Amino acid sequence: MHSFFLTTSMVCLASASASKQPQEILNTHQPPSFIESSIFGRRLDASSVRTPETLPPRYRADDFDGDGILQGINTFAHLDFVECMKPESSGSFDIGIVGHPFDLGVSYRPGARFGPNGARQGARRMSPRGGWDMDHNLNPYQNWAKIVDCGDIANTPFDKLVAVHELEKGMQAINDRKPSNTSASDAVRLITIGGDHTISQSSFTFGEPLAYNVLALPILRALHSTWGRVAVLHFDSHLDTWDPKQLGGGLTKYSEVNHGTMLHIAHEEGLLSNNSNMHLGSRCTLFDEHYDLDNDLRCGFSYIRARELDKLGVDKVVKKIVERVGDEYVYLSVDIDVLDPAFAPATGTIEPGGWTTRELLQIINGLSDAGLKIIGSDVVEFTPIYDNAAETTGIALAQIVYEIIQWMVHVPVKSPKA
Ligand SMILES: *[C@@H]1O[C@H](CO)[C@@H](O)[C@H](O)[C@H]1NC(C)=O
Ligand SMILES: *[C@@H]1O[C@H](CO)[C@@H](O)[C@H](O)[C@H]1NC(C)=O
Repeated sequence: MHSFFLTTSMVCLASASASKQPQEILNTHQPPSFIESSIFGRRLDASSVRTPETLPPRYRADDFDGDGILQGINTFAHLDFVECMKPESSGSFDIGIVGHPFDLGVSYRPGARFGPNGARQGARRMSPRGGWDMDHNLNPYQNWAKIVDCGDIANTPFDKLVAVHELEKGMQAINDRKPSNTSASDAVRLITIGGDHTISQSSFTFGEPLAYNVLALPILRALHSTWGRVAVLHFDSHLDTWDPKQLGGGLTKYSEVNHGTMLHIAHEEGLLSNNSNMHLGSRCTLFDEHYDLDNDLRCGFSYIRARELDKLGVDKVVKKIVERVGDEYVYLSVDIDVLDPAFAPATGTIEPGGWTTRELLQIINGLSDAGLKIIGSDVVEFTPIYDNAAETTGIALAQIVYEIIQWMVHVPVKSPKA
């Protein structure tokens, strides 16, 4: 029935324009109207059709005038792949996307080790050629920064602490790279795609190790030696500053390091800004009436709960963050579970009642417009096995990464030593 209807309509359109003598119109040099120049308005002149033999070959993945987005090896947004961990690598860059396929720190649904792969699949519809959009006045891929996909950092699936150490070593190797455009910035910046949230700590183990010698990691030490203390903006439904005695019960040192304690440990190791860190979109359960929140305050955090957005609105949320962070360097950590499960079902520890994708993008955009100095970022806890056939979570995650890329390009940052 459907195709019969279509066929009938096409015949009607074709005969309507046939009554306007399309041959005559085509012979004049007047520009034809849309209908006249479309397949409905004229007979196909077979001799003018370029056959596959006469078309040039199309190999480039960023050839976005049609089917290019479906081609090429699946890097993030079809960016060039650079082996960022190898100093002898031929490719230089300013902003790198790097995967941490790690999920040994989760408490509920496992599977975030496949997150980097899922994020790249979610970014498949994006490309440097099509990097403009209606909300930003620039294509971040064709501006001052060379943006690449660094691939993933290999780590063992058999030992959490060894794996974290390997991730740290990899991050340090990348952080040591000289940027491509040294007139804009004197340090490379990374956006890590997780992986469970434990990895943020691997981005933060640059202080003097206290109780957690095994995590005394050079990687964030590398960041620390470049940037000093940084303010963490932590978009997450959970606090992740849990005292390991609460979350995991202090069973063993091994159990204490997990995706809900890493900000506590980062604070203990002296890696965070003293008082400028914030949780955004918080809405989690707590173990008791006071201790968790008191400990959170002690770790240098304040928070804006998910429900507060309804009263404050996006602009006031942005204003509060900007006032608190001021001129400090910002590390942005986005747990995809900050979004409502309607927008991001595929995550490890879901909490209903979260923000929409649009609200999150708009807040990040506001921080960029305010010129906050972003020095690195991660987007974590994407567990593709729980995503749906529409790839809702993966595509939302890729859009968040695009927004972060826009921020990094909009705000080039020089290190304090520069
Ligand atoms: C490097 O960055 C500067 C802005 O700081 C820009 O003017 C210049 O075009 C960039 N160079 C390249 C090769 O993109
Ligand atoms: C942050 O706290 C540490 C440890 O208490 C202290 O040494 C340092 O001076 C503080 N930094 C600022 C900027 O207040």
